[in-house]
Amino acid sequence: MKRILIIGATSAIAEHCARIWAAEGDALHLVARNEQHVQVIASDLKVRGASEVTTYVTDLNNMDKHEELLDVADAALGGVDIVLITHGTLSNQKSCELSVKETLAEIQTNALSTISLLTLNANKFEAKQSGTICVISSVAGDRGRASNYVYGTAKAMVTAFTSGLRQRLQKSNVSVVTIKPGFVDTPMTAEFKKGLLWVKPISVAESIVRAIDGKKTEVYVPQFWFVIMLIIKILPTKIFKRLDL
Ligand SMILES: NC(=O)c1ccc[n+]([C@@H]2O[C@H](COP(=O)([O-])OP(=O)(O)OC[C@H]3O[C@@H](n4cnc5c(N)ncnc54)[C@H](OP(=O)(O)O)[C@@H]3O)[C@@H](O)[C@H]2O)c1
Repeated sequence: MKRILIIGATSAIAEHCARIWAAEGDALHLVARNEQHVQVIASDLKVRGASEVTTYVTDLNNMDKHEELLDVADAALGGVDIVLITHGTLSNQKSCELSVKETLAEIQTNALSTISLLTLNANKFEAKQSGTICVISSVAGDRGRASNYVYGTAKAMVTAFTSGLRQRLQKSNVSVVTIKPGFVDTPMTAEFKKGLLWVKPISVAESIVRAIDGKKTEVYVPQFWFVIMLIIKILPTKIFKRLDL
């Protein structure tokens, strides 16, 4: 039985990961800001076989609560083996362009709050010389594009931060797994027209659980995004800046 802390547990992708773990009889501690929603998910996970489900409600932008939330998770689970960090917001690029305040709020939610949680978790796992930290970044962090560079900047921060963290922690037997999804059909993207490149959250969740079990490092989900982003990354800036991406 694994003891798993899920931060941002009302996310569609997180919920599907939790269902997989519940079916395996794992113990889950769910952190989210919407109390009613997280209670519904917790009840469902118990029915699905989780050995234990506990919850903690907070807005993750309240970073003063981060130490407390990790201590509560430790106490609830009797120690944490895996932490999955999934919360995020898809920034409105156009309104961010008109508002420094909104831009920084997006960076706060999608990068700074995550970096705070990564740092505190890393120190706990380093001290006990075990554990897996998994965080959802995005292909959007691979190269800034006009259509979503505020969100992309935040995700690039998370990807770079986890790259350094992974190197630091490899000698402490701690895995750091960075997930880079492409387009996923979840509430976050409800307003988008869906096409061939889109996948369902369940398939992303299956990839996440496999990546954690396999102690992977950086994982594109689905894998074809590795090729797409490779092409986008190697395009010379002279050409790239003229493209409508
Ligand atoms: N969907 C995609 O195409 C896609 C692609 C690449 C990466 N991702 C990343 O995947 C992760 C999961 O997103 P999703 O697709 O599963 O979307 P989702 O279902 O909309 O989940 C986003 C979650 O983040 C939570 N959240 C946002 N701000 C928060 C805050 N300040 N405090 C606490 N919780 C907060 C939301 O809580 P509420 O329900 O209370 O609002 C929601 O549960 C995100 O990091 C996202 O950036 C998604």
